[in-house]
Amino acid sequence: MPDNLVANKEKEAAGRAGATFVHDGDVVGLGTGSTAAYAVRFLGERVRDGLKIRGIPTSVQTRDLAVSLDIPLTNFDEVQQIDITLDGADEFDPQLNLIKGGGGALLREKVVASASRKVVILADASKRVEKLGKFPLPVEVIPFAQALIARKIADLGAVVKVRMAKDGSVFVTDEGHHILDCGFGPINDPSELARRLSDTPGVVEHGLFIGMADVVLLANGDSVQELHKA
Ligand code: A5P
Repeated sequence: MPDNLVANKEKEAAGRAGATFVHDGDVVGLGTGSTAAYAVRFLGERVRDGLKIRGIPTSVQTRDLAVSLDIPLTNFDEVQQIDITLDGADEFDPQLNLIKGGGGALLREKVVASASRKVVILADASKRVEKLGKFPLPVEVIPFAQALIARKIADLGAVVKVRMAKDGSVFVTDEGHHILDCGFGPINDPSELARRLSDTPGVVEHGLFIGMADVVLLANGDSVQELHKA
């Protein structure tokens, strides 16, 4: 089977497994990306069968999907705490640190993860790495500071590209910012890099999720393995 079909089957399996973690009455963080979309669709099926939940979507894309499935939604005006979040990742390492943001939703994803009692990451086998950094790290910046920050990050040794949309214009996030995709190669100290990026004025958020994932549901072929934070 071609690699992308294998990955899709694994994403579906991880999404299905993730949806079983949700209980009646939960407030659920709804992640963004192709794997999270599977989980949202399976949750939609459970809602149709009577499951009572309220979702907080991490992007306009996921909000539209949830609305189309009649999943009731809520927001931070109404709730302070999310019971469980189901989301994807671009990479995870043995400590369950993540790179996220390939879909451009890292800012809302990190806010939602930070407000969640439990963060469950859904991953196909291609997402598992020994060291983060093969996937270019997304860094969300205010447009005013973009060029300045791009040079600063390049000085740290990364190849920096401004993310473009499919129509050739600069990609704009749901919150109106731009994204720099920063190819660092293997990141030896993700926590230190996360601190440096967070300390840079004009950086709104970065895609390093350190210590935020509680569980990774790793689909490998037909089986789904549950990995827990040490
Ligand atoms: C969205 O901004 C990302 O954080 C996604 O979770 C990540 O890109 C994974 O996407 P896929 O599930 O489509 O691989």
